[in-house]
Amino acid sequence: MRSPRRKPITAIEPGLPLIPLKLARNDTFSNLVEAVVPNKTREQLVLSPHNIRTFIGLIEEFRGADLLRRHGMSVRSKLLFCGPPGCGKTLTAEVFAHELGLPLIIARLDAIISSFLGETAANIRKVFETASEQPCVLFLDEFDALARARADGSEHNELRRVVNSLLMLIDRFKGKGFLVAATNLEESLDAAIWRRFDEVVVFELPSQREIRRLCEIKLKNFPAPFSVSEKAPRLKGMSFADVERICENAIKRSILKRSKVLLETEFDTAIREELRRKDLRARLHQH
Ligand SMILES: Nc1ncnc2c1ncn2[C@@H]1O[C@H](COP(=O)(O)OP(=O)(O)OP(=O)(O)O)[C@@H](O)[C@H]1O
Ligand SMILES: [Mg+2]
Repeated sequence: MRSPRRKPITAIEPGLPLIPLKLARNDTFSNLVEAVVPNKTREQLVLSPHNIRTFIGLIEEFRGADLLRRHGMSVRSKLLFCGPPGCGKTLTAEVFAHELGLPLIIARLDAIISSFLGETAANIRKVFETASEQPCVLFLDEFDALARARADGSEHNELRRVVNSLLMLIDRFKGKGFLVAATNLEESLDAAIWRRFDEVVVFELPSQREIRRLCEIKLKNFPAPFSVSEKAPRLKGMSFADVERICENAIKRSILKRSKVLLETEFDTAIREELRRKDLRARLHQH
């Protein structure tokens, strides 16, 4: 999250202590919500230049929130993360929380909505209450589950009630932190949902430059005596998670060959395996 031209955002204060989430009796619900002290740092993250600027702007606004509010200005706090799987939505939420020095509360909406029995609405409310009591980043993962439930939940009164109360909670959310919703199906989100967010951040498949940067990060402790950059074109169309898997597999294979450096043959094999895996996935999805 560093901008080449601007002064880098200085180190953050140590993370705030977490107020434990006190959820209602329903034990299964506590599996659906997780409070984490974020420890992923920006050194591990590759972002597009546009997204770097967006996050720097958001962090500056957050730090100057009191000043802005005194001038009657609102502070952006509701973000929607969109983009294909494995491109950094969850990782960015964690790095963002870490940069802000805030705890991260992760709620998986698909799981919450599919277990919509009885106390779910009350528990969702509790999550939002907790997130309003303490400054934090509230991360609503699998947000498209909400849109799906809206589309096909009309016969289910209870489901509709859960969805409506969730939308209301999002509208009213005034936490001293951020609400971040993530989805990889942005087309399933209708205008009514889009307009509830102050900022939409798109996470795309990595560019060639970003692939090279990720390889550099992943191979930092296991140097390659050959040019990994030259192989980047073969990784076109892969997600960050795919590229990371190639690097890790290549490292493992080299270690098992008792090598102290990355072996080019093993890197090539790892690329071939990933391509085969991608091909298989594509064929399975055709049927
Ligand atoms: N932009 C990135 N920079 C560095 N590593 C990344 C990036 N994106 C993904 N990764 C790696 O891939 C893993 C999976 O990424 P992440 O969970 O953030 O994807 P996601 O966009 O949330 O996917 P999904 O839609 O499946 O939830 C991360 O833990 C990280 O190791
Ligand atoms: Mg994710």
